[in-house]
Amino acid sequence: MKIAKLRIRNFRDEVWRYWKKHGRRKLAWRKTRNPYRILVSEVMLQQTQVLRVITKYKEFLKEFPTVQKLARAPLGSVLKVWSGMGYNRRAKYLRDAAGIIVGKHKGRVPKDEAVLRALPGVGPYTARAVRVFAFNEPDVLIETNIRAAFIHLFYPSVLQNTGIEDSKILLIAAAAAEGQNPREWHWALMDYGVHIKKLHKNPARKSAHYTKQSKFEGSLRQVRGAILKSILKDIPHIDLRGRYGKKYEAALTSLSKDGLILKKKGLWKV
Ligand code: ADE
Repeated sequence: MKIAKLRIRNFRDEVWRYWKKHGRRKLAWRKTRNPYRILVSEVMLQQTQVLRVITKYKEFLKEFPTVQKLARAPLGSVLKVWSGMGYNRRAKYLRDAAGIIVGKHKGRVPKDEAVLRALPGVGPYTARAVRVFAFNEPDVLIETNIRAAFIHLFYPSVLQNTGIEDSKILLIAAAAAEGQNPREWHWALMDYGVHIKKLHKNPARKSAHYTKQSKFEGSLRQVRGAILKSILKDIPHIDLRGRYGKKYEAALTSLSKDGLILKKKGLWKV
């Protein structure tokens, strides 16, 4: 018990030391407390790299500065700004979430975890991230960079430690978070995790919950993206059928299932 406490203390010291020297305090979504802006950033950061999110976040908020503006926006205009970030479903989820926030929550992003989770596109991680970063609530976050930080320091042996469950990391993470400022602590943890991943072969691969992003080239995701881009620009996409064959039809079906496109008078539209 004593040893564990000491390890936690050393871990905290190391994370804070790193934060003081190298913390990315200037990331735009770390300079705001506005829950709407933070929700936008967290949905973007779910599956897109920080570097790309930096520009898209700015563009998106210029176009949709308030939750009311986003709630009223036609899907096509949201998808246009989203273009280039991939996983376009998120854009629709976010627009629909804005509609619920305006319609059901008086335009205020909810603080309650269950209420947040009822919003489209908001899973357990995103709900807690909004609570931590917007409201400074003392939740415990686990995502890929944070996993890397804990696994590197608490499970250093490569051979013995694979399939490490989040439930185990959560216990350590909760102990480490105790008494820390939730918002700043999680920023620091994330940045420290990014640093650890650069130094060592990603420790998070030892996690039971580690998933590599699937290959984009030749994927359904790629064809979906290509079709959606054509539709948004009003460019015919029939040539894509020749290029992608069966995947073209499958992509149309899945885009339409997700509510991103629909057929009007024989033509696909957003
Ligand atoms: N800062 C706040 N949330 C973040 C996230 N999900 N990824 C990177 N930096 C962040």
